[in-house]
Amino acid sequence: MKKREFIKKGFLGIGSFFLAGKAKGLEYYPMPSDKRIAVIYATWCGTSRDAALWISEGMDGIANVFDVREDPDISGYDHLIIGGSIRQNKVPGQLENFLEKNRAAVSGKVRGLFAVCGNMRQPVGNEQYRTFIQDYLAPLSGAGQVPSRIFLGRITWGLMEPEVCEMMKKIPGMEEYDNLKRPECMAFGREILDAINKVN
Ligand SMILES: Cc1cc2nc3c(=O)[nH]c(=O)nc-3n(C[C@H](O)[C@H](O)[C@H](O)COP(=O)(O)O)c2cc1C
Repeated sequence: MKKREFIKKGFLGIGSFFLAGKAKGLEYYPMPSDKRIAVIYATWCGTSRDAALWISEGMDGIANVFDVREDPDISGYDHLIIGGSIRQNKVPGQLENFLEKNRAAVSGKVRGLFAVCGNMRQPVGNEQYRTFIQDYLAPLSGAGQVPSRIFLGRITWGLMEPEVCEMMKKIPGMEEYDNLKRPECMAFGREILDAINKVN
């Protein structure tokens, strides 16, 4: 191929890539499976993103993983795992809005719920399950009694909005920490997949 033709074809190829649809910076490519499972998460600084990916890894990577800000089309999924990080006892508003907007499509498909919180670095107990799952995420998503997990999260100053960072640093004893555990997230994913396999 002549140099000029090669360059022309190259430009055409790049052009058609961008025209083919929304160009996506990052897309999670799940392992092939006949199960149509998605994990949808909401995060400020990324802890719930890692939890979501590790939940999928616990399912041998067959669940697709979406940040709720992508506004994923869930019509192609039979099973959903939904969760998010907690600030002032709430997940990000985008997740609340997404669940309200897609209530009919979501309820009946929820196979697992999770939340990620600091909990002042104390072990999670019944109170957190009641506050974040039973009285909040379960009714919000129209889920009945489904497997749920609350993971301890982390604080990373460099990822926080400057004003939030400044405010957090004023809290006595507050420092960076990382309590999210990949094996716990993976175990949760495996538990949900086992439950799905039992029914299907
Ligand atoms: C402004 C702010 C408010 C928070 N509020 C709560 C809270 O109400 N309860 C709690 O247990 N943890 C709270 N946390 C801790 C976060 O849930 C924890 O750091 C989590 O890992 C953050 O996830 P992210 O990386 O997705 O932002 C708060 C953290 C920040 C920065």
